[in-house]
Order: sequence, then C-alpha cells, then structure tokens
Amino acid sequence: MLSIAVFGSGAGSNFMAILTAIQQGNLPAARISLVLSNNSGAGILGIARANGLPAIHLSRKQFPDERSFADTVLSTLRDHGANFIALAGYMKQVPPEVVAAYRKRIVNIHPALLPRFGGAGMYGLRVHEAVLASGETTSGATVHYVDEEYDNGPVVLQQTVPVLPGDTPASLAARVLAAEHQIYPAAIGRIAQSERAAEHHHN
Ligand code: GRF
Repeated sequence: MLSIAVFGSGAGSNFMAILTAIQQGNLPAARISLVLSNNSGAGILGIARANGLPAIHLSRKQFPDERSFADTVLSTLRDHGANFIALAGYMKQVPPEVVAAYRKRIVNIHPALLPRFGGAGMYGLRVHEAVLASGETTSGATVHYVDEEYDNGPVVLQQTVPVLPGDTPASLAARVLAAEHQIYPAAIGRIAQSERAAEHHHN
C-alpha cells in the first residue's frame, strides 16, 4: 500500500485529482496519509480538511535552521505512516534529508515535457511563456522522481498536448493542467501496482 504524503502550496487541483481517483476506487493500492503545505491559506489544505485528512502547515520560516525544519518534516511523515511523497504544486525545495530518506519514493508533476522547460525558476506561467517563445507546437505534463536537483529525476509518465495558434500562457497552462490531472493518478497507480507486484513476489 502506498501511504502518500502530498506536499502542495496552492489550489491543490492535482491533489484533488488523485484523491478523486482513490475515492472512486481507481487506486486501490494507494491512500493519502497527510497533506502538508508551506502556505497556511493554501486551497490544498482546505481540500484535505473537507475530506477528513490530516492537513498540516509546515514552513521553513517557522524554524531557526534548515536541519530542524527537515527533522520536523521527517518526524511528521513518520508519525502519519507515510511511505511515499507526491509533490503537487509544491513551490519549495524539498530538504535533501527528506529526499534521501524517501529515495525513489518521492515524485513530482511538472507542467512541461521534461527534460526541456524545467529547472530552477521554471514554474507556473513562466514555463508556458518559455514554451510559446520557443515556437514548440507540442507541450505537456511530466511525472518524475525527485532527486536533489529541481525537475531532474527519471520520468515516470508523460502526456503531450498541442500548442495551438493564438495560445496564451494561460490557455496553454489550462490545457496542460487537464493533462496533469490525468497522468498523476495514472502514474501513482502504476507505481502502486509495481510495488504490490514486488511485495507479492517477495511473499
Ligand atoms: C500548476 O501550475 C501545476 O502545473 C503545477 O503546480 C501548479 C498548481 O497545481 N504542478 P495545483 O492546482 O495546486 O495542483
């Protein structure tokens, strides 16, 4: 069973897509163990609360140093039995201690076809502005494993969308976001199934 800690900073539409897939019985080998946000007013925390899930505000700014923040994140994850992390619109760097503790157990969704249009500073509308400026006729969304670099780990799943004449960053962002909502639940389903297969193999 994947017991997923979801990290987010914003509206939480990707989290909602994953939660809906679970609630509809499409992700039987996954559950949400908690939602964590650096932004106390984030919509993602409201969605968690509305669904009776632990909704935790934790921000680096509350701590004297990075190490005490990382230690608190890790103990919070362990207290809730989280064995997997899904970043969903999380705008902060994950502390390296957390990446190390969850090596190959932490994924992210990025609103472009990595490895292009990724890396530090490439988030939100900036991504889509860069895609439009490049003249690309295709964009899309990527679920990837997280390592110590931004947007750098192995790809789990991608889906393309067309860039259409007259697209603005906002219209392209909306088309990509719809693709995100399809591939994030699908990617988690694949990981959960492969884990279940591995467990089955071991027993
Ligand atoms: C979106 O721009 C999405 O592309 C990226 O994070 C932002 C917010 O997503 N993954 P969400 O609605 O908070 O899930």
